[in-house]
Amino acid sequence: MEPHVSDHVRIFDTTLRDGEQAPGCTMTKEEKLEVARQLSRLGVDIIEAGFPAASPGDWDAVNAIAHEVGTADGPMICGLARANKDDIDKCWTAIEPAAKKRIHTFMSTSDIHLEHQFRKSRGEALELIGEMVSYARSLCDDVEFSPMDAGRSDPKFLYEVLKVAVECGATTLNIPDTVGYTTPEEYYAMIDGIRRNVPGADKVIISTHCHDDLGMAVANSLAGVRAGARQIECTINGIGERAGNASLEEVVMALHTRQQFFGIETKINTRELARASRLVSACTGVHVPPNKAIVGANAFAHESGIHQDGVLKNRQTYEIMSAETVGLDGNALVLGKHSGRHAFRKHLEGLGYHLNDDEFRHVFTRFKELADKKKLVDDRDLEALIAGEAQRTVAIYTLDYVQVFCGTDVIPTATVRMRGPGEETFTESAQGTGPVDAVCQAINKIVGEPGELVEFAVNAITEGINATAEVTIRVQEYGTRAAESEGGKPERGRQPRVFSGYGVNTDTVVAAGEAYVGALNKLFYARQERQRSRTQPESPLEAVDLFGNSMLGKGD
Ligand code: KIV
Ligand code: ZN
Repeated sequence: MEPHVSDHVRIFDTTLRDGEQAPGCTMTKEEKLEVARQLSRLGVDIIEAGFPAASPGDWDAVNAIAHEVGTADGPMICGLARANKDDIDKCWTAIEPAAKKRIHTFMSTSDIHLEHQFRKSRGEALELIGEMVSYARSLCDDVEFSPMDAGRSDPKFLYEVLKVAVECGATTLNIPDTVGYTTPEEYYAMIDGIRRNVPGADKVIISTHCHDDLGMAVANSLAGVRAGARQIECTINGIGERAGNASLEEVVMALHTRQQFFGIETKINTRELARASRLVSACTGVHVPPNKAIVGANAFAHESGIHQDGVLKNRQTYEIMSAETVGLDGNALVLGKHSGRHAFRKHLEGLGYHLNDDEFRHVFTRFKELADKKKLVDDRDLEALIAGEAQRTVAIYTLDYVQVFCGTDVIPTATVRMRGPGEETFTESAQGTGPVDAVCQAINKIVGEPGELVEFAVNAITEGINATAEVTIRVQEYGTRAAESEGGKPERGRQPRVFSGYGVNTDTVVAAGEAYVGALNKLFYARQERQRSRTQPESPLEAVDLFGNSMLGKGD
């Protein structure tokens, strides 16, 4: 007989760890906190808040999230640690303030990883896993173990490893398809095989962790649940390494919409999904494609005549779920330029935003400027202002003034004024191929051209001619891209340094200028942080990736 498994599946969000690990998705500490607050409103069971040993900045962000978001009735806070005592210690000190906490440690189990990357035999890996899971368990009651590249591991060795992990105290066994290689049938068989062959597997939670290289991450995760997994690791908008991770909104809505088929529940407040998606997109600069399932701009749009006709007669003819269920409506409450401070603060609190006095002053000023231009401001505008605010904490430069001269038969020219470190002001003018380019060129003249713009996306946040524009920009640090295109190899372990910025304004060109400055500020901040770690050589916290390679540009 099948061992009984509950009908509740835990949602383990790894946007702040596996998601943030993707090039260019680096977030500031304040942005990570804002995302963690939203994940808590969304009702995720566990937040993997980061990889504390990666850098002092990562440790700090995980610790701040554990302090603020890891309340008794909030989500469990988890940190990632490689299978060594130093990482596990740093992970433990970072998550310690949380009421509910978890150490997640991992080690590869596929021969290809063991031989070429870790240069360890199976026996050595097995011994290390036992030792490190026991060590983690001596610190924390809740320990997750992941056999990395499980999808390509020998099943017999995998069972042996997992048996040891359970004996040494692991409470969750997470099964990563690290390279996104397996099919749903294979993933089902892997989870099923683990449940049947690993002694003690019925006493622990089995978890899915699927990457999307072949576009099967969500299907694999759901197959894992059908085989008895009761935790899904996923990210908002599916962000993550390479093609990303299983998308949280997709797995949650599949389980919700096909409840009768899966018979499984989550405790996610689905009405918060759209807000979570917008916030993560703003903070990482990863644009959500219009046809993205659940949260894309067209996910609920009916264009063809026959569909529109059907929907008008009965929504269910072409709609399997409603836009309201995922929070794509209800931006009803509008504020105007006469709304006072008190009403504004109360409204923000109603949305779950608790700002300190300085943040409130700044957001209120931005709100008044917006309301002046746009008459009515709705919740989507406010969310955008809050996302922009999270970027301000690392502001070294701020954009004070922008003027552009452009049109037919003129050379686009911009004049910008900026405040820099120590409150000095700088004014510069430049010409460009268009107004946005001219603004960026003028900014470059002031800050000294540290990067090149590699991505630029404009989106209208609200409807109508006076819509607020949001601009996301990605800047690659000057030199890294040029070296690649010349066929030069990046330094060993060196990732291209890409930084995202976000701007909101009724004027698209000003929003672009703000976004560009936001990205440059992150770039300068990362450089300063790196400088700080260099001047403290005794600091055990050196910026590294999961394999211990030096990592430039990961919030270090
Ligand atoms: O994909 C993977 O294998 C991971 C592990 C660290 C869990 O992210
Ligand atoms: Zn992963």
